Amino acid sequence: MAEYLLEMNHITKIFPGVKALDDVSFNLKKGEIHAIVGENGAGKSTFIKTLTGVHQPDGGEIILDGERIIMSDPLVAQKHGIAAIYQHAASYPDLSAAENIFIGHEFMVGPFVSWTKANREAQKLLDSVGANFPATASVGSLSVAQQQLVEIAKALSQNARILIMDEPTAALSKRESEELYSIARKLRDEGVAIILISHRFEDIFGLADRATVFRDAHYIGTWNIDECDEKMLVKHMVGHEIGDFFPKKKTQIGEELLRVENLSRTGYFRDVSFNLHAGEIVGLTGLVGAGRTEVVEAVFGITKADSGEVYVNGKQVPHKRSPRMMMDMNFGLLPEDRQKQGLHLRWSINHNTSLPVIDECTNGIFLSGKKEYDLSNKMKELLAIKAPSVETHSGALSGGNQQKVVVGKQLAANTRIIVLDEPTKGVDVGSKAQIYQLMSDLASQGMGILMISSEMPEVMNMSDRIYVMSEGHITKEFKAEGLTQEEILTAAMPAEREG
Ligand SMILES: Nc1ncnc2c1ncn2[C@@H]1O[C@H](COP(=O)(O)OP(=O)(O)OP(=O)(O)O)[C@@H](O)[C@H]1O
Ligand SMILES: [Mg+2]
Repeated sequence: MAEYLLEMNHITKIFPGVKALDDVSFNLKKGEIHAIVGENGAGKSTFIKTLTGVHQPDGGEIILDGERIIMSDPLVAQKHGIAAIYQHAASYPDLSAAENIFIGHEFMVGPFVSWTKANREAQKLLDSVGANFPATASVGSLSVAQQQLVEIAKALSQNARILIMDEPTAALSKRESEELYSIARKLRDEGVAIILISHRFEDIFGLADRATVFRDAHYIGTWNIDECDEKMLVKHMVGHEIGDFFPKKKTQIGEELLRVENLSRTGYFRDVSFNLHAGEIVGLTGLVGAGRTEVVEAVFGITKADSGEVYVNGKQVPHKRSPRMMMDMNFGLLPEDRQKQGLHLRWSINHNTSLPVIDECTNGIFLSGKKEYDLSNKMKELLAIKAPSVETHSGALSGGNQQKVVVGKQLAANTRIIVLDEPTKGVDVGSKAQIYQLMSDLASQGMGILMISSEMPEVMNMSDRIYVMSEGHITKEFKAEGLTQEEILTAAMPAEREG
């Protein structure tokens, strides 16, 4: 038997104007978890897609069990036992979990598809990965974590020998991530080989047996995880060491910009009160599902609160408010789900970043292409958005670079109050540092920033004050100075699980 289950040698992939992969090699052993790490746009997702038959490589070979295979389309890869859970969920929201699992390889009874059997088998698979919902539930009604379990069950239904997870934990809470880890370990122990792509060092060190680094379309190296540490991986990923990761400046805290009083929405959150001052960065943390996103959506007028008041610059905002009205009060929101809410994939980077400041990009009534261009070029440079030019359409960017466009768009907007919902999710280490720098600069210019985040290091190092939410209400307010992670985590725990 060959030493490696899978060998990918000298893979090259060229998109118009972009060499996404340049002579990249990789191998995978049976029963290992192998992490691929690298900055946004390094080529990780593209590499995976040459293995799953989504993209055809322009050069190189794929050897599975000692035999050279052409992955001419996704079905070929599927037949060879290769399954992938992609960075952006690819399931059908209107179909049930069972339908999503068995679509393409249904059970037939004569000429008919047997959904009774499919539902039964799907339920078995879902139970085996610890899912707590029925196979008949529509996928659109499930949480991101639950949708991922559907994807894993789907992979299992295809008897996958190789399971690829492209940033599986980006949208998961700590507990959900741990559950995913234990499923991954169980599959590994049963002999499945897993390729894991993640920007979270916790995932890499907690789960992987080996790690391979890509940088700028090139293969850099492969190491056993016990010979690696974070600093060394970062250095290989970025090409140099990162200096001050959390550049939080001391700022002058000014007047109150935002005050929320006893805001409630039945079934989502209750009696939520907090405030935000000029020059301040306030962290709003808690477990995923604690209700943080729901609160800011109601403040911003995306949904309607049942009771409670919102004041901007000391003025009460009407109960019937809309995002447009809030934006006119210089209030901006970076939504958590950027793919759906933040970005026009068919538009260029340029059009996307200048959208919130379109008024400033006009000369009289005409759109000034130059002003628009200058602004988006500045953003592209500042956040190191990897694209041939700002004319590139956003759909052609890597996942993390799409995130950066949305973040850049918000930060470029002329806002006084900004809510950033998980600002660094899916963003690589170097760009995280750049986003922190930008936040810090904006706060020191007098902006108020409310940052929703589940990442403890950024909450603790970037905030002046921190609110913790649990099960729909604020359990604690802290000054960031001298605070420990344990204090935050205790406040974030649902009450009945305490002790
Ligand atoms: N369909 C496409 N058309 C044109 N260019 C593309 C396409 N898909 C990817 N690219 C480019 O290929 C390069 C590698 O992208 P890829 O998505 O593989 O990066 P990644 O390592 O997965 O990054 P991230 O961590 O942000 O997900 C990027 O420069 C990207 O813009
Ligand atoms: Mg990717």
